[in-house]
Amino acid sequence: MSPNALEAIQLSKSYNVDSRQITVLDRVSLTVPIGSFVVIEGKSGSGKSTLLSLLSGLDKPDSGKIRLCGTDITDLSEDELAPFRNRTIGYVFQSFHLVPSLTAFENIAFPAELNRDPQAAVKAKELLHRVDLSKRMNNFPHQLSGGEKQRIAICRALINSPQIIFADEPTGNLDSANGEIIMQLLLELRQELMTTLVLATHSREISSKADAIARLVDGRIATSSEKVNL
Ligand SMILES: Nc1ncnc2c1ncn2[C@@H]1O[C@H](COP(=O)(O)OP(=O)(O)O)[C@@H](O)[C@H]1O
Ligand SMILES: [Mg+2]
Repeated sequence: MSPNALEAIQLSKSYNVDSRQITVLDRVSLTVPIGSFVVIEGKSGSGKSTLLSLLSGLDKPDSGKIRLCGTDITDLSEDELAPFRNRTIGYVFQSFHLVPSLTAFENIAFPAELNRDPQAAVKAKELLHRVDLSKRMNNFPHQLSGGEKQRIAICRALINSPQIIFADEPTGNLDSANGEIIMQLLLELRQELMTTLVLATHSREISSKADAIARLVDGRIATSSEKVNL
């Protein structure tokens, strides 16, 4: 088995804006060892979200290859990708992306129910307890604070015991105190579940906790830390 949770080779992605082509990612390669915590760093607009969406199979590169948890996802159809993503990855968004019409409990349980997991409800309750939000289980997202919403979103990302978690500026919409709580929680849960974590941020403080840092500048990975070989 490959020792890597993720291998991305020469990914390129351009967008057409006003009939002009903007190259956001230019032959980006990245390797993430199983169990590691890798940060993708870069200024706003540097392509962090675009890269995460390619690495996680939410969007397709124009060229390049992606091997995610042992599967080459480059040429999978959306019908093949959706269940693969649901089983294999957890995704935490900056703006939470909870389903407004579902309660906190239902939001967390939903990915496990899609998997027809008979333990969905039990696992959702355990996770609610773990993040100290059992009392909020029947609240809807609009009744929760930003920090509470992100804790629920993290539970949802973890309910299927993913092999890899992607987090796109998960503290970006929170004040610094709540941001710190969320980062602490993500790092603790990652260790408890021994999951790989790929996190986009422009916070140097968060990057300092990573095993490796890949820095995006002008569509390329400009520097990467030497703690692991990226
Ligand atoms: N769907 C899209 N259509 C056109 N341009 C896009 C699209 N998504 C992102 N971009 C552009 O790509 C660049 C990188 O965006 P993004 O990946 O969101 O950067 P970051 O997450 O680092 O802030 C920006 O210039 C952004 O405007
Ligand atoms: Mg972004």
